[in-house]
Amino acid sequence: MSGNYEIRRFSAVSQGKDGYAQAETWSRAVSFGFHESTRTAEHVAKSLATYEADGRVLTGVYQTGPVAPSSMPADVPVATFATFRKTLNIGFGQTLEAHLVTSVTVRTSHRRRGLLRRMMCEDLQLAKEDGVAVAALTASEGTIYGRFGYGVASFERVVKVDTTSRFSLRHEAAGTVEVADPKALLELAPAVFGRVHRLTPGSLGRQEWYRQLASGSLGRDGKEDPSVKVALHYGPGGDVDGYVSYKFLGWDTEPYTVEVVDLLAGSNDAYLELWQYLGAIDLVERVSWSEAPLDDPLPWALDDPRCIDSSDSRDMLWLRILDVPQALTARHYPADGRLALEVLDPLGLAAGTYALSAQGGKAAVERLPEAAEADLTMDVSALSSIYIGGVCPVTLAAAGKICEHSAGSALKARQMFAVERPTHCLTHF
Ligand SMILES: CC(C)(COP(=O)(O)OP(=O)(O)OC[C@H]1O[C@@H](n2cnc3c(N)ncnc32)[C@H](O)[C@@H]1OP(=O)(O)O)[C@@H](O)C(=O)NCCC(=O)NCCS
Repeated sequence: MSGNYEIRRFSAVSQGKDGYAQAETWSRAVSFGFHESTRTAEHVAKSLATYEADGRVLTGVYQTGPVAPSSMPADVPVATFATFRKTLNIGFGQTLEAHLVTSVTVRTSHRRRGLLRRMMCEDLQLAKEDGVAVAALTASEGTIYGRFGYGVASFERVVKVDTTSRFSLRHEAAGTVEVADPKALLELAPAVFGRVHRLTPGSLGRQEWYRQLASGSLGRDGKEDPSVKVALHYGPGGDVDGYVSYKFLGWDTEPYTVEVVDLLAGSNDAYLELWQYLGAIDLVERVSWSEAPLDDPLPWALDDPRCIDSSDSRDMLWLRILDVPQALTARHYPADGRLALEVLDPLGLAAGTYALSAQGGKAAVERLPEAAEADLTMDVSALSSIYIGGVCPVTLAAAGKICEHSAGSALKARQMFAVERPTHCLTHF
């Protein structure tokens, strides 16, 4: 990056507070970067209020020299980046603070000059110095973030479920489902999410906007969405332990389709019973959900698993370990064992050889001398991929992403890094 730019970091603030104009301009640059229509002042204000609630730190790169006549003025950043902190479920109910990276854009006329590299490298260094052991993001393209040490750690898929007479789900209901005013989720959604978060490896704490989305209060277009409907699931004790927020796509769509906006289930029963509800909506022939898990109990519970058309599966959460000893000791290990892991890191933040010894679930991690022999050698992106059990080390060894020096150690890693339920992240950010 040449010296014609400067990086500024500032907090997201809501309307009426000092610094709002700077945050508003930054927000418009993000919309431009993602090819959105120019947001209304009201939409920007609502978004920034949710960003303030998340405690987001906004980063902008600004031109320091003269800007081209009639082009965007110098107070509009040419590159954007934002971060906030949430907890990540790393398996067996353990959580770890994660540094979430979002809103990454570089203006087309300033791309490929190293602006992303500079923002990312500085930010990861600062997060590490701040004591955070792992960073996370979701990626618009699969080729951008591996170079910075990120690895794919969870997946999701689009399902289209045939809910005509073919749909038959064998399950004896343990709870009940009732329709509610969507606005009830403004109150209820965070607590229901808390249950899901504790239950699900790979789950990340949600940003403020989610309850507004699920309740139809703030759609992606910045407006109320009156088409959103909500059903709540009550567990046997009467507590709300799940919900589905959904909308009917209209009589012009064929087959007649309901689209899931958000589906949270805090128990196995809640999941199947919410699907029983969705499968029972009259006049509807299809239910689609774009954030379904890959390893999904639904097909196993259906009489005809081919009711599900699931063509589009893709990476979702990417993780980047910043501090190997801190990340590895935070985990619970379902199998005992000792592995010497050589970790390579293009940014030098996490490189080294580490002995991981797990016994009775707990682990000790010791840094070994440089010449120590390792059982496995891998880039930090591969370690980040296997960390929460969503990617199998044996598969990465077969792909050449992990080099196995002692036979059987990739399988040992698979057993040690296993988690108790399928890894799934329902938080897009
Ligand atoms: C992706 C984007 C942020 C890259 O910004 P940039 O400033 O051009 O990137 P840099 O110049 O710092 O490049 C850093 C490295 O990433 C590579 N890179 C950047 N964008 C890439 C892409 N889309 N695909 C593959 N490689 C890419 C560069 O070749 C460079 O490689 P090197 O440093 O190893 O030689 C920018 O193109 C953009 O804003 N795209 C549209 C919005 C978007 O997709 N944002 C990501 C949201 S998750």
